[in-house]
Amino acid sequence: MNTHVWTVPSAQAAVSLKTHPAIRQAAAALREGRLIAFPTETVYGLGADATNDRAVANIFAAKKRPADNPLIVHVAGRSQLSDIVARIPRAAETLLDHFWPGPLTIVFPAAEHVSAAVTAGLNTVAVRMPDHPVAAALLQAAGRPVAAPSANRSGRPSPTEAKHVLDDLDGRIYGVIDGGKTGFGVESTVLDVTGETPAVLRPGGVTIEALRAVIGDVTGQQESGREGESPRSPGVKYRHYAPRGKMTLVTGEGEALVRRIQSLTDAWRSAGLTVGILTTVEGRARYDADLVIACGRRAEPVTVAQDLYRALRRFDDAGVERVLSETFPETGWGAVIMNRLRHAAGGRII
Ligand code: TXA
Ligand code: MG
Repeated sequence: MNTHVWTVPSAQAAVSLKTHPAIRQAAAALREGRLIAFPTETVYGLGADATNDRAVANIFAAKKRPADNPLIVHVAGRSQLSDIVARIPRAAETLLDHFWPGPLTIVFPAAEHVSAAVTAGLNTVAVRMPDHPVAAALLQAAGRPVAAPSANRSGRPSPTEAKHVLDDLDGRIYGVIDGGKTGFGVESTVLDVTGETPAVLRPGGVTIEALRAVIGDVTGQQESGREGESPRSPGVKYRHYAPRGKMTLVTGEGEALVRRIQSLTDAWRSAGLTVGILTTVEGRARYDADLVIACGRRAEPVTVAQDLYRALRRFDDAGVERVLSETFPETGWGAVIMNRLRHAAGGRII
């Protein structure tokens, strides 16, 4: 298969994009059951008509995704929601008012006809309304709910540029709409509202602090599942991304953190290993290694999140054998960054 690449100006408003030839062609392809990757405000998604089981099954095949990991359904607006969910709990109404469109995925009780291909057989369904002009235009033009995981091969970092999508899926999908770099750079927050207290299943683009400010009680990810219990979000049990080089997170602050990372680097290099370091703009000049990547600015953690997946892909491309990463205070965006880093490091933190 020859993967089409459409380039659209993401600065344009969704209303005028809706009639853009690229969006019309991509929307028509979606309706015919084809797979289309598109930018959202978080990461690129790989979309299929959520009402077409064959198309949805092809997502799993293209990504090599485990079949028991359900997909998020993307909608153009609230009117599409009533078709997909069995009911809208009160807390969810408030959340929709505040955070849609935006990087908040809400897990609802599923309407009976929602396909098991999408929900992986659960009686719940995850839904989100993206806040990106290209995604919005595509969803409106398609006129159907679109099931879309992140548009990476399973086990790779989520794509924040069309190039990353092609690196992973060229020849395996019908097309990709190139709308430039995504905004947040990490995935949406997944919030389950089917229980008594809303529970964060995956931290992301809407911080837990922002959720609590609007609906009060919210259970954080750490509290929501004890080890050994079956996780409420099937996705969390998979090692999402492991760099080809073994990654270790290093705790500490300021000068002490720099010294710790540098002395480990020196030891590994004298043992003949190639070593990469993940730091921020503030730290770049302070390290000596085979590859030092400055990812955003520590003083503004949101910029670290924006750049994180691109940085992780660069370590893979360079083929370093060990990666040492700085760590971040776990509040606000820092908590989201640390969640993704912990996954990447397989929990190795010293
Ligand atoms: O920002 C995002 O959320 C991106 C863009 C493309 O929208 N999508 C994304 O999808 O990250 P994916 O498939 O990579 O992650 C979806 C997460 C998984 O952890 C999955 O297990 C969880 O959402 N999920 C989906 N449906 C669920 C459900 N019914 N109950 C609990 N968790 C669910
Ligand atoms: Mg993903």
